[in-house]
Amino acid sequence: MATKRDKNFKYDAVIIGGLGHVGLPLGLVFANKGLRVCLHDKNIKNAELVQNGVMPFIEYGADPILKKLIKKKDALTVSSDIRDVSLAKYVVIAIGTPVDEYLNPNVRVFLEYFKTLKKYLRKNQTIIIRSTIYPRTCQQIMKVLGKNVLLAYCPERIAQGYAIKELKELPQLVAGVTQKAQNSAIKLFSLIAPKIIKVSMEEAELVKLFTNAWRYIQFSITNQFYMIANDFNLDFNRIRQVMSDGYGRAYNIPSAGFAAGPCLLKDTMQLAAFNNNNFFLGHAAMMVNEGLPNFIVEDIRKRHDIGKKKIGILGMAFKAEIDDTRDSLSFKLGKILRFHGAQVFYSDEYAKDPTFVSKEQLVKECDIIIIGVPHAAYKKLKIPKKAEIVDAWGMRG
Ligand SMILES: NC(=O)c1ccc[n+]([C@@H]2O[C@H](COP(=O)([O-])OP(=O)(O)OC[C@H]3O[C@@H](n4cnc5c(N)ncnc54)[C@H](O)[C@@H]3O)[C@@H](O)[C@H]2O)c1
Repeated sequence: MATKRDKNFKYDAVIIGGLGHVGLPLGLVFANKGLRVCLHDKNIKNAELVQNGVMPFIEYGADPILKKLIKKKDALTVSSDIRDVSLAKYVVIAIGTPVDEYLNPNVRVFLEYFKTLKKYLRKNQTIIIRSTIYPRTCQQIMKVLGKNVLLAYCPERIAQGYAIKELKELPQLVAGVTQKAQNSAIKLFSLIAPKIIKVSMEEAELVKLFTNAWRYIQFSITNQFYMIANDFNLDFNRIRQVMSDGYGRAYNIPSAGFAAGPCLLKDTMQLAAFNNNNFFLGHAAMMVNEGLPNFIVEDIRKRHDIGKKKIGILGMAFKAEIDDTRDSLSFKLGKILRFHGAQVFYSDEYAKDPTFVSKEQLVKECDIIIIGVPHAAYKKLKIPKKAEIVDAWGMRG
């Protein structure tokens, strides 16, 4: 470990939301570097799993680290007691920052949490915001915590499922309300990140939202192209291949498919709200991406009376090779199909649900099979010739 242990604190870092998709891998990577880490979280089910050395969700490379560290004295502590916050030099906040049912940021809930937290904070602690926040939230937090607090914003930029690898590879943005706060956060993240990029609070807040909105808009462009090509009775994936064949300027066009999950749409809408709802491209991207399930259903309805069909969706997670179904568009697709009277079957390689069937049963039963998410297991899956396959991703070639 590069930093000296502070004897005044039992832990080097407490991660609030430490059993979530952002908090847990971060805690593991810190603890693997020799820090004494406390994972504070209110999720009792995940606490029990982690205490038994079991990852509660897919995070590639995390299992052996957790199994090793949970047995090691003082490396990793799981806690549901908020008083543990007082015992750590660094207090890292990684709780969720959702938007409400009208897609407005729910900043108040986040700020309310700091009112509770304040009672447990001590002098000389550094508070680090890791969650994605609405711009200027840090200013509001300062109002709650008082001007003497050392507050830093170090946004998480990993791709879910690949944090263990990416935390070691990605440059870390570090902003602080004061130089002292920034330097303190730099000390912590220098232990794991290959490069530190110093930014102001406002820059960090916008970099994070711009990055996710950028990705979300990119996906919407390719989804819109898919719809245009399809309406033209052409194979978009062939067009996409030709676009980038020997033509570098089009190399990075992503495949079509559901742009879903808990971050991209939410962060695009946070940016729209911040800019007084003046984010035409962001809203257009939402209409296209959220409209893809409807497009797929309407396209099938042109060829079939779907009230008489059995339709299967392969892949219910929000993206490939993970087990997280949060805000997955496969469920929206299923709902629309059911509304039109179809008998719908769900299957997933990783996400578990008692209502899901196996992929083998799904392909045996169904007349129409839609690839919801391109888990690799579906690439070579034998599908009876009589079934129609709908594959916006182009994964089956
Ligand atoms: N998932 C990602 O890939 C990703 C990537 C970058 C940034 N982010 C951002 O990170 C933040 C967390 O996202 P996530 O995907 O890890 O969410 P998550 O739901 O997986 O994790 C949040 C955790 O916080 C815990 N929690 C919530 N309120 C709490 C409280 N009051 N006290 C203690 N624990 C509490 C929950 O039990 C949960 O375990 C969000 O702001 C998100 O936008 C997520």
